[in-house]
Amino acid sequence: MHILVVGAGYVGLVSASCFAEMGHHVTCLDIDKEKIENLKNGIIPIYEPGLEEIVKRNTEAKRLFFTTDYKSSVEKSLLCFIAVPTPSKEDGSCDTSYIETAAREIARHLQSYHVIAIKSTVPVGTCAFVQHLIEDVLKQSGSNATFDVVSNPEFLKEGCAVSDCLKPDRIIIGANNDKALGLMKDLYGSFTINHDRIICMDIASAEMTKYAANAMLATRISFMNEMAGLCEKLGANINNVRLGIGSDHRIGFHFLYAGAGFGGSCFPKDIRALQAMAKSVGYEALILEAVEHINKRQKKVLAKKISSYFLKDGGVEGKTVGIWGLSFKPDTDDMREAPSLELIKELLEAKAHVRLFDPISMDNAKKILDHPNISWCSDEYETAHGAHALVLVTEWRQFRFVDFGNILSKMERPVFFDGRNQYKHHEMKAKGFEYFGIGIPSQGAK
Ligand SMILES: NC(=O)c1ccc[n+]([C@@H]2O[C@H](COP(=O)([O-])OP(=O)(O)OC[C@H]3O[C@@H](n4cnc5c(N)ncnc54)[C@H](O)[C@@H]3O)[C@@H](O)[C@H]2O)c1
Repeated sequence: MHILVVGAGYVGLVSASCFAEMGHHVTCLDIDKEKIENLKNGIIPIYEPGLEEIVKRNTEAKRLFFTTDYKSSVEKSLLCFIAVPTPSKEDGSCDTSYIETAAREIARHLQSYHVIAIKSTVPVGTCAFVQHLIEDVLKQSGSNATFDVVSNPEFLKEGCAVSDCLKPDRIIIGANNDKALGLMKDLYGSFTINHDRIICMDIASAEMTKYAANAMLATRISFMNEMAGLCEKLGANINNVRLGIGSDHRIGFHFLYAGAGFGGSCFPKDIRALQAMAKSVGYEALILEAVEHINKRQKKVLAKKISSYFLKDGGVEGKTVGIWGLSFKPDTDDMREAPSLELIKELLEAKAHVRLFDPISMDNAKKILDHPNISWCSDEYETAHGAHALVLVTEWRQFRFVDFGNILSKMERPVFFDGRNQYKHHEMKAKGFEYFGIGIPSQGAK
């Protein structure tokens, strides 16, 4: 099958590579000429475990191609996937202008019969909008081409996108036509040989499913952060509470971690978009409002803890704070809406010096952060030089086992703020640190 994937980002590039891995002929198109040139030369624009190998293998096998040219790639493709950004507008609603542009370009080059599958996360009604848009373009140009629009939201997780894409939990297809549905099932059959994980439904429900899934996950995080705040006040330990509630199989252990708040390119914008959808139909989305509100508060928790710690010592001004981890979560270079950014902003505003390190996202972080009080460090040990405090913001695996004796010897003061509850209070205390976690009472709990 010839497939076109429009957008060579986290979703588009990974999906295109995985379709090619299953033996299809795939063209991945982007408007970013430099990105496409780099991809043609084997330079991968993002960090994603396993992606480089799969791109290389399929490019060499001549199953995966890169282009900026809509005409030739649309004409030969039976399936055209759209995986372009859907960022927030200023009012929080979803900006679907990239979808519109891509759909218009595709429409101009449709030849015979094609399926246009929307992989981007889009508000309910977007597929119907795209259907009408393409119909208009075809009418105006007098084209005889026929097409169907389907919804095929993507559920991959950055950091394990390739394996998620090759072995998806489920594949959602929203279609109102058997022919289009059949073709989508043919494509995804090879991804679900072990057992059928394709869930078919109407288009609006498929569009909504993606938002509901992200809202549910974000709700669990905000819920745990709310519990963590209460634990601190009441003298309980969120780590123990997590174990206690997660063992109920109706709750489960996944996604039950208190921390520095959620970030990334999806949860925050999707919560805002869903709120905007609710507003547009006059529905009061109370949980979504709370989830967003709690997350905004949570992203300030580390800065608040640090500033109250230094209150007794002239404040944060002039202090040096080392930060471990900058990306919004481990195993990705994605800095979009990362909690580290909020913390760094607050520390710099308070005139602190910050020493920053992340195993992978330093280049992306440098594009966003520029301040004379920032020192970029080559590893976690260098961040400790002269630091009055260290903060773990992103729980990269390499921070799990650290030579804390070495760290301590470099620090000005042995204070550790653990934004992801990676370490145990009593162990850090035994190592000589003053330790502060999230949702852990200050005197420490077992
Ligand atoms: N990143 C994730 O983890 C994830 C997971 C599931 C769903 N999604 C959704 O998938 C969509 C894409 O997200 P992403 O993270 O891959 O975005 P991204 O920013 O990483 O990549 C998007 C790419 O689209 C390209 N592009 C923009 N307009 C274009 C056009 N008209 N024609 C061709 N290319 C164009 C951009 O140059 C960019 O390379 C969003 O709707 C997002 O919400 C993302």
